[in-house]
Parts: sequence; structure tokens; C-alpha cells
Amino acid sequence: MNTRGEGVQYRVPRALCSHLTFALNSAPSRATLRLPRTGGKTRPGQEFYDMKRTHHCNELRAEHAGQTVTLTGWVHSRRDLGGLLFIDLRDREGRTQTVFDPADMPKEIFEVATHLHSESVIEISGKVRARPAGTNNDKIPTGHVEVMVQSFTVLNNAEILPFPVDDPEIASKVNEELRLQYRYLDLRRPEMIRNLRVRSKVAIATRSFMDEQGFLEVETPTLFKSTPEGAREFLVPNRREPGTFYALPQSPQQFKQILMVSGIERYFQLARCYRDEDLRADRQPEFTQVDIEMSFIDREDIYALIEGLLKKVWKTALNIDIPTPFKRISFEEALNRFGIDKPDTRFGMELVDFTEEFRASTFKVFSGAIASGGVVKAINARGLAGATQGQLETMTETAKGFGAKGLAYIKVENGEWKSPIVKFFSEAEKAALTSKLAIQEGDLILFAADQWLNACEILGKIRLYCADVLKTQGKLTLDPKQFNFLWVIEFPLLGFDREMNRWYSSHHPFTAPVADDISLLKTDPKRVRGQHYDIVVNGVELGGGSIRIHQPDVQKTIFEELLQIPPDETQSRFGYMLEAFKYGAPPHGGIALGFDRLIAILCGASSIRDVIAFPKTAKGVCLMTDSPSQVTPRQLRDLHIEVKAAVKKEG
Ligand code: AMO
Ligand code: AMP
Repeated sequence: MNTRGEGVQYRVPRALCSHLTFALNSAPSRATLRLPRTGGKTRPGQEFYDMKRTHHCNELRAEHAGQTVTLTGWVHSRRDLGGLLFIDLRDREGRTQTVFDPADMPKEIFEVATHLHSESVIEISGKVRARPAGTNNDKIPTGHVEVMVQSFTVLNNAEILPFPVDDPEIASKVNEELRLQYRYLDLRRPEMIRNLRVRSKVAIATRSFMDEQGFLEVETPTLFKSTPEGAREFLVPNRREPGTFYALPQSPQQFKQILMVSGIERYFQLARCYRDEDLRADRQPEFTQVDIEMSFIDREDIYALIEGLLKKVWKTALNIDIPTPFKRISFEEALNRFGIDKPDTRFGMELVDFTEEFRASTFKVFSGAIASGGVVKAINARGLAGATQGQLETMTETAKGFGAKGLAYIKVENGEWKSPIVKFFSEAEKAALTSKLAIQEGDLILFAADQWLNACEILGKIRLYCADVLKTQGKLTLDPKQFNFLWVIEFPLLGFDREMNRWYSSHHPFTAPVADDISLLKTDPKRVRGQHYDIVVNGVELGGGSIRIHQPDVQKTIFEELLQIPPDETQSRFGYMLEAFKYGAPPHGGIALGFDRLIAILCGASSIRDVIAFPKTAKGVCLMTDSPSQVTPRQLRDLHIEVKAAVKKEG
């Protein structure tokens, strides 16, 4: 035994244990201890193999009193009380109070126990007993019992921790960078273990559901070809041929379509995807998709499949029966009513159109915008008349971010409309506002006069901002168990990039146009709707997909005529797909759900970082391993890479 007690193994001589074979001084982790399980199994029908414990720390109850048990875990907390030492032992499943009585063990052994640091790893054996009257702890399932320690082994000592993990109050306030640097400690917190458990259960439920539905899980390569489109890619240099690179896939899109040509018919994969884009709470550079593709289907088949999958997932994770089918809303209606293509429909504050009412207004900001083809829209943020100057400035900045000159508003306070613009309104205009927005005392009315999409998007952002303010003021409360699922459909197939003077795919270039609109592809591309759908829940885009183009000629038209990719580039980037499609491509379509976002919603986490074991910071850094990091000149030489810019390390 060393001074820190490592390897200490203490056994009370009079203890029952003929089965205990201690190898003193052997490596602690190899100490052999075999006790038959005296309690129930951890879960019916389930044994854990090669575990030294008889029970997990969440299992013991009053009916176990009198049994001798072995527990293993971490010293969660320690209290000295009237000569007795209480150690709460914690493992993955829960906590149990253990009691060290100096009368039961030699003084020096008791001393070792009293000096154990929090989070040291120990194994104890002892007798379960009911806690004395008045000392029960009803907050934990094992709170009516304690284990009187008869023998214990220090399996490993812990140094003083950089932050405590035993106090949820303190732990939740620890700076996230510190948590990420010591992620292994952060993951010891029950909340984080719960998140990883939900993640694991949902992954398994997903696999079993997809298997029941006849899908094959097929792995696709993560060393892929560079196909610049959408987000920036991560490149991987090829040592064998200088100047050539693999790219990490942004999604398995092309492989899954090729698998349909192969006749797989129903494919799925829990796929790792990589995108070098600006990171936010709901975006990581590497993330997981539940990626799906099916042959001989239409949109209805995808809706039904995903509704079935999500029903099972919600039941598994939350024991909630979600009603299906989900509502559907067109892209245009989503923008018109909520100002966003992923509406949170748990609260109102919908956008109301006033274009007709203000067409001839003397207020030129409104009538002028309408005259140049725009619209006037407004929202009523009920109860926000007291918005501060700072809050109004934030909203105005949002509007300016869309190129608007400002943000008109009216505060309805003390029976008055307080606003610099009201003087320009006619009685009829005021009456229209009052009636269509149901204006009452305490309201804040906000306007956007702009081109349709801009006006919608400005108010869509401001609507969400106002909802956040109302939430913090306690004026808007959302039920954490309410999940408003929505299919958003009928997106435009193409958007127009004014700077580049060309069309771009709203989703990706493999999305099929709605059959009725194919004839518009050459004459009026703006009006072509795509067979694209997004699944949205509570304002989060959970996933998206489409029915694909399976005719090589239509695909070629999209690449070359609309996206204006030169034929040789089409050939080098997508030639293999066009070629594959010549040999019997079935009609097909699919979808991908963001798995991290799905788990974050189920866990009520505000960031997907909380449901990923080892996430990266907003700067794409893993603080635990300190990556990305510099490499040796020799590695660079092998890869034929010369670094020109000074290497600057950012935290
Ligand atoms: P899309 O690009 O819409 O579609 O991605 C599908 C879903 O993946 C999730 N997601 C992300 N999650 C975390 N971090 C990110 N950086 C990130 N980017 C996307 C979102 C999103 O809805 N191949 C198509 C799918 C298809 O057409 O079948 C695709 O990848 O939840
Ligand atoms: P808990 O709610 O588990 O923290 O326990 C309440 C208090 O009672 C704590 O201060 C414990 O240390 C103490 N306690 C728990 N069990 C016993 C016991 N068997 N004898 C004396 N005090 C106890």
C-alpha cells in the first residue's frame, strides 16, 4: 500500500466471504472478487458480464436489508459524522450511501477511507441495512438504505478536480470551455449520462425500426471526392499523388442514390457528415444523420415512414404518443404566416399583410415599397409595449441586416399609439390595423415594408426575438412536452443569385421538379416547385429530403442549363452519376434527419454540443485533445504540402 491508499484492500476477517479471493498487492484493477448475485438482476433477463459488482448503485431497496453486496464506483461525496464516515458511492446508474464504522476496521484502514478524495474509484462490500429512523433521503431511489462497509478496495485515487461534478447547481454554471477541456469529468454528470443514454437508445430504436421496415444499413465511404456545392468541405491530401485530395462527405447523398441504381431499394445509415461551415448551437463540423433512401416511392411514402419512425422514437425516449399524420404547410404559407421556412407554431404572433390597406398611403415608406413591387406586413407582439430602447435597437439592426432602412413600430400604452409614424396614418388605415391585429393596450406592433421575401424574413426573425423576450419576462410559457411537427413542402426548386447572375439549387441539384412544373424549367425557372420536403419541430429543421431526378437528361439540363456548370466540369464532378443513371435508375427519393438535433430536442438541450460526447467549440476546436494541431515538417513533406501562411494557434 502506498501513502495514497492505492491498492488498499481491506477485508473484515469475520466477514462471510469464502468466495472472496484477494490477491494483495496485485494490480488493483485485476483484484479478483467473485460474489454470487444475491439481489435481483440489474434488469430482468439481463446479466452484465465480468463485472465485479453485485448491484448497481441505483438498485438497493429496503427489501435488500441483511444482504451482503459489492458495489463499485466513484466517491461522490463524503461526510464525517459522529465518528462515522458516510461515502455516497456513484456509478453510471445512481448513488448509494455507504457507511464506514471505525469500530469495524483497523484505525489505519479507516484513515485511508477518511482521506479519499472525491471521485476516487473504490469497490466496497458490506451489508445492506435500512437507514435509521429520520435519516431517509426520499430524493434518491436508494435513499432508504445504506451499506455498512465490511471490506473495500481503492481502485484508483483522484486528484482535486478542476470543477465539482457532485453538485448539479455548481456544475451547470461551470464555463463551457472548462467543461469541454475536461469532457470526461463533465460526462460524469448524471444529466450528460442521461443524454448519451437517450442517444444510444434512440440509435438502437431507429435501427430496429428501419430493419422492421425492410431497410439495409449500408456504410458509405468517408474518404470521398470533392464536389464543391453547399458548405465548404474538409479536404484530405493524397500522399500517393501530389496535388490530389479526398474530401470528407457533407452527406452520403450521391452514394445513396447510386445504391438505388444498384437495386438496394431501401437504404439507411447513421452516417457521419462533415461540413466546414460557421458553427452555431445547432451545427457542428462533424455530425450524424439518419440517412434514408428508397426506390419506387413518392412523397407520401417518405412522410408515412418518417412519421412512423418519429412516433417510435418519441415513445422510446419520452413515452409520449405523438399524433400523426403531421400537418403540412407550403413554403409560401410558412413565409407568409411565420416569416421562416421552419416555423415554430407553438405560439401565434403571426405575420399579417397590409399591402392593400397601404397601397395609396400618404406614408411613403409603405406606399413606396408597395409601388416597387413589395409588400407591407406587421406583427403584434402582445405585451411588449414596454420594450426597451436597446431591444428596439436590436430589432432595428435585424431589419437593417436584411437591407431595410429601419423598423417601424407602434407602442400601445396608456390608451395611446406611441409612434413617430402614426401621424401619417388615415383613419381607415388605423381601423384596419386595429381590427386585423386585434390591437389592445400593452401591444407592440412592428412593421416591415420590403420585397415579399425580405419583409417576411425580417418579421420572422423579429417574431422569434420577441418570443424570447416574452419568455424571459414570463409572459410566454411553452410546454416542454409540446412538440409541433410540420412538413414544409413545395419549396421553389431554384433561387437566383444576383451577384453570380445564375440560378442555384434551393436544396441540392438532385431534387426533382414537381411533375407539372417541368415544362417551366426552360421558360420560367422561378416558378418551378421542387419535390422537396423538410421536417420541422418547434422551429427546428430536423431533416430534409426530396424525390430525386432519375432521368439523366433532366439531370443534365439542371446541371448545365440552369446551374450553368460547364459540361466538362459536370463530367468531372458528376459524370459517374449521369453514367450510372443510364443503366436503369429506378425512381427514388429520400431524406436525412439531423440525429444530433433530434437528440437535443428529446433531451431539451439548448445546444447539440450537450448530446455529443466530444463536440467541438464554435471555432471548431476540440479543447480536450487540442485539435486541430500542427503537424511535423516530415508529415507535410510526405503529403507534398507547403504551409505558406504563418501558423497561428487559436483557442
Ligand atoms: P441537409 O443538408 O438538409 O440534407 O441535412 C439534413 C439534416 O442534417 C442536419 N444538419 C446538421 N446537423 C448538425 N450540424 C450541421 N452542421 C448540420 N448540417 C445539417 C439538419 C438537416 O436538416 N443529403 C441531404 C438529405 C437528402 O436529400 O436526403 C442533406 O444532407 O438537421
Ligand atoms: P441525506 O439526505 O442522504 O444527505 O441525509 C441526511 C443527513 O443525514 C445527512 O447529513 C447524512 O449524512 C445523515 N445521515 C444519513 N444516514 C445516516 C445514518 N445512518 N446515521 C446518521 N446520520 C445519517
